Amino acid sequence: MKTIINGNIDEFIQWHDTDGNIINASDGGIICVNGVYHWYGLQLRDLPVASKGAGGQTTLTGVAMYASTDLVTWKYEGIVLACRNAPGDPLCGPMRFERPKILYNERTGKYVLWCHYVCAPGDHGTTPGTAEAGVAVCDTVNGHYEWLGTSRPIDDKGLVRDSTVYQDEDGSAYFIYDRMVGEDRCLHIVRLSEDYLSFTDDWKRLDAQYLREAAAVVKNGKYYYMVTSGLTGWEFNRAKYFRSECLFGPWEDMGDPCIGDDAHNTFRSQTTYIFKPEGSDTCIHMAERHNTQSFLKCSYIWLPIEFTPDGQLELRYRNKWDIADV
Ligand code: GAL
Repeated sequence: MKTIINGNIDEFIQWHDTDGNIINASDGGIICVNGVYHWYGLQLRDLPVASKGAGGQTTLTGVAMYASTDLVTWKYEGIVLACRNAPGDPLCGPMRFERPKILYNERTGKYVLWCHYVCAPGDHGTTPGTAEAGVAVCDTVNGHYEWLGTSRPIDDKGLVRDSTVYQDEDGSAYFIYDRMVGEDRCLHIVRLSEDYLSFTDDWKRLDAQYLREAAAVVKNGKYYYMVTSGLTGWEFNRAKYFRSECLFGPWEDMGDPCIGDDAHNTFRSQTTYIFKPEGSDTCIHMAERHNTQSFLKCSYIWLPIEFTPDGQLELRYRNKWDIADV
């Protein structure tokens, strides 16, 4: 047994890698390859005070990756999707590969990374380059991902904000994103092409998920579940989850999944990703505690998801918990 240590609810403890450095992998995810878990996310900068744009959650380096066989001990593997620090280059920092997510495509044998791309200086905006989907590809999970560029799913009117991906049991994969057209803001789901490198015309507006972001999807039994946050930027807010028997809906609003103290602000965190360790029945909800005083010092909380017999999804805070051997 290994123990996941979240610390006391108000503690905001740091997680460290095997070199003793703070794990710096913001809003990413986990992918398991041949029994090795790879945790990746945006490598943030050490900024003393959060400021909008050039100050907030941007990177000069790229997407970092860590490896572990037990989900507790993490070895730094380096930058897998790198910034290119030549002025004018689309990957020149400070920029964002926000909420990066990696899938393995069995047909092509390639690893595909999707993110919400924001060019330098890293401000969310409405002009091209500040609200796009970005994609990169690699032959190995922890190699150097090749940047393939940006686009907007569905049509160019819809700005891309928070995004995630979901791979279904039949190998089809989906890009799920907070789509903004003027004041209208709603999560949408778009099926990816067979090679996962582009969008298809098969998409759906998820009406139940109006004004939601930070989505993460998991399937358990007959239901797909989507956990989301409200739109309060760095401020924590009440999570809400939805369930459906079909990815394209209709999705049912199931309310707040969190139970106990600080449920109303997702235990002082925001959803990042959900995954099921290999051979385990327990899904892990990864969430992030953005530290607006110093983005480098971000903190994470990982909690086991409890599914009730009647198909509800529940999260309870735990200072620490044992993870079954994986
Ligand atoms: C959060 C969102 C993050 C980031 C931030 C502001 O609420 O989930 O991905 O966009 O707002 O930059």
